[in-house]
Amino acid sequence: MENGNEQLDNQSKGVLLAIETSCDETSVAVVIGGKQIASNVISSQIEVHERFGGVVPEIASRKHVEVITLMIEQAFEESGYKLEDISAVAVTQGPGLVGALLVGIVAAKSLALALDVPLIGTHHIAGHIYANQLVHELEYPCMALVVSGGHTELVLLEDEGSFRMIGRTRDDAVGEAYDKVARALKFPYPGGPHIDRLAGESERAIELPRAWLDADSYDFSFSGLKSAVLAVINQTGMKGEELDKAALARGFQESVIEVLVEKSLRAVKQYGAKQLLLCGGVAANRGLREALAARCEAESTPLLVPPHRLCTDNAAMIGAAAYLKWQRGEFTPLDMKAEPNFSLEGWAGNKNN
Ligand code: KG4
Ligand code: ZN
Repeated sequence: MENGNEQLDNQSKGVLLAIETSCDETSVAVVIGGKQIASNVISSQIEVHERFGGVVPEIASRKHVEVITLMIEQAFEESGYKLEDISAVAVTQGPGLVGALLVGIVAAKSLALALDVPLIGTHHIAGHIYANQLVHELEYPCMALVVSGGHTELVLLEDEGSFRMIGRTRDDAVGEAYDKVARALKFPYPGGPHIDRLAGESERAIELPRAWLDADSYDFSFSGLKSAVLAVINQTGMKGEELDKAALARGFQESVIEVLVEKSLRAVKQYGAKQLLLCGGVAANRGLREALAARCEAESTPLLVPPHRLCTDNAAMIGAAAYLKWQRGEFTPLDMKAEPNFSLEGWAGNKNN
């Protein structure tokens, strides 16, 4: 009887088991009520992909298969919750690498079926955005700047769980540009942190172009900037001069940051956003955080940034986003498919295909 009451209590709290395998992190979390992290275990494959200079999809899938069961066991162990306490199983449905996504999806479907609990297919970017909810109180409308290895997006949240993508990259994601520039400067993958550190070591910045695109556009483009960096490296080499790597890193970083900051704050103003949320792996960038913090303070806009562990890929953020669906009783059929190009608006409208 006591056990029954406990289960009912867990049911009303919404104890979600969340699984994330969209890229090169295998992560499993137990999240209560979309806010409280009972556990959030992460197994990173970065070392495996490092020598290839980027993520190799086939290897990523195999590595997820190797560790997923262990991660699920560890997440339960650390959380203190048991299988029968789970109210629903959440999993990243997309976007991401299809083979990698499938590993998490098969695990999630099996658990949902065996435990007879609902399945919640979740959008990876909704996860990055709602990582903020694990540590802050969100106020709507708010604006999210999502910057990662696969994404550069400005998303307007008019209300809880409503997403409108108002700007996106037309070519490379910002993290991708960082990684490519770092590779050209002979740094290992992921190169973002190396460029960030190097940029902080130089007073001088090599002047590089800014891609503003059309005057009123919130879209981004980073491939021209990346080509400009490569041109500087080639020209310096051809002239037999020594390259000032730090000044180049600073020039690149300044160009990226200026565009991200200007467009984000313009979007905040235009849409009357009460907060600016920064999320995704590139949110770790010191220069970006400092520049955004300074501009937000000057314009009296609160800036929310999750701690680093919740910025990079993790399952707790998936549990936080999935809770939006749990609250509304919007569940995903067991025959759902991985969606490598999942649309955020489509997910929010509960369209599974
Ligand atoms: O969100 P994330 O862990 O994975 C994706 O979903 O892509 O982001 C990883 C990306 C990589 O491109 C990495 O180079 C970049 O975030 N990154 C950084 C910094 N730390 C990580 N980029 C710039 N500065 C940093 N400090
Ligand atoms: Zn991500």
